[in-house]
Amino acid sequence: MPELVPVFTKDQIQKMVAAVARRISHDYKGRSLVLVGVLNGAFMFLADLVRELSIPAQIDFVRVASYGAGTASSGKINLTKDLELDIQNKDVLVIEDIVDTGLTLSCLIDHLKSFGPRSVRVCALLDKRERRERAVPVDYTCQVVKKGFLVGYGLDYAEDYRSLQEIYHLKL
Ligand code: IMP
Ligand code: MG
Repeated sequence: MPELVPVFTKDQIQKMVAAVARRISHDYKGRSLVLVGVLNGAFMFLADLVRELSIPAQIDFVRVASYGAGTASSGKINLTKDLELDIQNKDVLVIEDIVDTGLTLSCLIDHLKSFGPRSVRVCALLDKRERRERAVPVDYTCQVVKKGFLVGYGLDYAEDYRSLQEIYHLKL
């Protein structure tokens, strides 16, 4: 059986989300903010984040499949659900669960820019910075983490563990 080692508690996550929401609310005041959640991993983070914002935001999702059932990025993204909102001249904030190699995000940012938004920035719950292969700007990071595979709070391993309210290190 894989072992789950606790990394962040419910309370720690709630505080990180509230803190980043305050920064976003301040920075995007008076702008046309569109949050673009990256499915499936970011669903829980986005749902908690929007409820902490003190400014209005529109919400859309894209779905990117890159990992299959493994724990390493394949290097190319497969967009299985595209945007539905018109983001032309809007301020887009991509909401990611975790940035690892950066390959997914860099492809996704290029794709979003093709729709003519006013700006595209990134907010990630977790950032595995030391594993970066492609330079991508992560404008808002809740927490920098070391290498290792994390699950819970939306993060999965082969579609399991997403529903956990805490974040764990998965030891296979
Ligand atoms: P990247 O393209 O290597 O940056 O991978 C990014 C995507 O892989 C993230 O959006 C996650 O969905 C997934 N991912 C990366 N690291 C982890 C992890 O530790 N646990 C669960 N999913 C991860
Ligand atoms: Mg993801």
